[in-house]
Amino acid sequence: MAAEMALLKPISKFSPKLSPNPITRPGAKSFRVSMSTTSTPTKTSKKGNKKEIQETLLTPRFYTTDFDEMEQLFNTQINKNLNEAEFEALLQEFKTDYNQTHFVRNSEFKEAADKLDGPLRQIFVEFLERSCTAEFSGFLLYKELGRRLKKTNPVVAEIFSLMSRDEARHAGFLNKGLSDFNLALDLGFLTKARKYTFFKPKFIFYATYLSEKIGYWRYITIYRHLKENPEYQCYPIFKYFENWCQDENRHGDFFSALMKAQPQFLNDWKAKLWSRFFCLSVYVTMYLNDCQRTAFYEGIGLNTKEFDMHVIIETNRTTARIFPAVLDVENPEFKRKLDRMVEINQKIIAIGETDGIGFVKNLKRIPLVAALVSEILAAYLMPPIESGSVDFAEFEPQLVY
Ligand SMILES: [Fe+2]
Ligand SMILES: [Fe+2]
Repeated sequence: MAAEMALLKPISKFSPKLSPNPITRPGAKSFRVSMSTTSTPTKTSKKGNKKEIQETLLTPRFYTTDFDEMEQLFNTQINKNLNEAEFEALLQEFKTDYNQTHFVRNSEFKEAADKLDGPLRQIFVEFLERSCTAEFSGFLLYKELGRRLKKTNPVVAEIFSLMSRDEARHAGFLNKGLSDFNLALDLGFLTKARKYTFFKPKFIFYATYLSEKIGYWRYITIYRHLKENPEYQCYPIFKYFENWCQDENRHGDFFSALMKAQPQFLNDWKAKLWSRFFCLSVYVTMYLNDCQRTAFYEGIGLNTKEFDMHVIIETNRTTARIFPAVLDVENPEFKRKLDRMVEINQKIIAIGETDGIGFVKNLKRIPLVAALVSEILAAYLMPPIESGSVDFAEFEPQLVY
């Protein structure tokens, strides 16, 4: 997994906080980087030492699902749509492990990090920690799915395990990047302390598919841009994105195959509504997040909104191959709506930054939140594009539920 996914809701500004908790990782100084959007990233609970992490809906999330239902979905005795030959071929591809020797660091990293200072340095740290958390989130989910599906469907289970291998590699590489800044994410701590968002399997499919594909388009777009404009290549991690994003692309293709094997998640009006909902959720989350961090994108020579629109349009075109409906993101009205959401969101953030009583601030936020919700709803209700390529007529009679 590479991209962030969150449900839509008004946001407060993200500000990573470093708490001086010792960590055991060698090579990095004693900081625990906590993901938070509040001034108190961790707090001690009443019971004692147990720390809790506060987070908002726009921080990268950890997911869990109904593993029993997953087992049923991938039981070849129950679901005759599972194309075992296709999954076997995908497994061989994952076993080939194209990027086994790709993620090797060199001395350029530390040297580049030392040259980064001021606000750009801080924004790079934030980029690394958010990306690391998102990758690690994929690792945890895929690892558990690999474990839980072992008996029911060993082939699908092994693919999940190999995808978790990829995500662990990605997260580890980003975490080593943090060590260039004398920091490290305490992933063991995150695993235990973060809240997990529960999604039914159907929603896990939509969300992770989109997350992988949007991740692919983000990485490849940054890579191509920096290849053409090497003067902005201020930290060598971006040079690794070309092969790296192929991992994300493969992960997305695997979810595409999984969804084809579950046509009931793609072939009715509910699937169309949910598909549009998840597309909107992912696109809006990215747009609002990135527009709060324009310094990062400008720092590498990108125009944030142009970059995001390119990623959204490409992801949407890819997604249209499998989802039964997608949003009409190429309609200029869609971007206008996104831009209005950014404006409203900035006002909401500005209220949070003023001095004042919480209650009064909340009152001031109400009309803005209502305006944001109405923009989101209007974007959702724009005429969609019918899409998808699964031949449902062939599938339906074979369902054995
Ligand atoms: Fe990844
Ligand atoms: Fe991935």
